[in-house]
Amino acid sequence: MPKLLCGGKAVELGPTETVLEGLLRAGLTVAHSCRAGACQSCLVRATEGLVPSEAQVGLKDTQKAEGYFLACSARPKTDLAVSLPDQAEGLTPAHITHVAWLAESVLRVELAPTKTFAYRAGQFVNVVRADGLTRSYSLANLPGDGPTLTLHVRVVSQGRMSTWLASPGALGALVNLRGPAGSCFYVEGRPTQPLLLVGTGTGLAPLYGILRDALRAGHSGPIRLFHGARTPRGLYLQDELRALASTHPQVSYTACVREGAGEAGVTVGALDELAMSAGAAKDQRVFLCGDPTLVTALRKRAFLAGARLRDIYSDPFILAPPPGPSTEAA
Ligand code: FES
Repeated sequence: MPKLLCGGKAVELGPTETVLEGLLRAGLTVAHSCRAGACQSCLVRATEGLVPSEAQVGLKDTQKAEGYFLACSARPKTDLAVSLPDQAEGLTPAHITHVAWLAESVLRVELAPTKTFAYRAGQFVNVVRADGLTRSYSLANLPGDGPTLTLHVRVVSQGRMSTWLASPGALGALVNLRGPAGSCFYVEGRPTQPLLLVGTGTGLAPLYGILRDALRAGHSGPIRLFHGARTPRGLYLQDELRALASTHPQVSYTACVREGAGEAGVTVGALDELAMSAGAAKDQRVFLCGDPTLVTALRKRAFLAGARLRDIYSDPFILAPPPGPSTEAA
């Protein structure tokens, strides 16, 4: 079995164990959240040994060259020496300045970073609580909107971060931000290209930023936004999106639910069918955010409909697993 060396400790990895699991079992504190290679919060660096290539998917070339990899995706075949990032490295302190409900289980959270925090609309940040608990959230605003950052947080009953954010104790608290990360954002150029934006639940957060960023950049091609939820109570920002569509002729907005009687302006049906059947253009740029199953299915369908892979951007939201014996460090 391969051996993991870190901070003077050596731990033998089990046959299916990841580097993250091995490090946590050795009692080391390693920031992590999704455990699925999506949030990049578990970034560590190999100082010796061979890093499995699948643990470097989505990283920048410079990070790969320096040996960085995602501990939750790494199952090395041979011994590996690892160094943990300084836990304070790359963190930006931020105060929680505003918390309000946007929908039945969706919070709008405003954060005021204590120093400059550069980002692109649509990227995500890792929010690190004082006890080290880390969760990823997409940014819903534009850098030009003001000094605060806006997150849309889905509150889940077992969610340690989301239930805390919904509690009175969160307002005014100091957290740390790691990031931003992710490549799901609008890049200027090709201003007449059709844009297709599809998201479920709080997958609307990055799409709302991307939509407004495209308009800010003067995008004149058609922009079609589809937002889906299980029931009408999961929809939000409907007034703002309808207002954007009414003042920008190139923008269309469709709200879609799987269950419930149809309400004015809300379609009942399957979001993927709706998004792909409404005049899917071949040369379109596609942004997909939210439910991982839907994101994966729509990536494939958009590609088969003629979109180039380099024009398909996605941000699947993967829930952090509930706390267990090996996740105490989170
Ligand atoms: S990428 Fe490893 S915990 Fe999210």
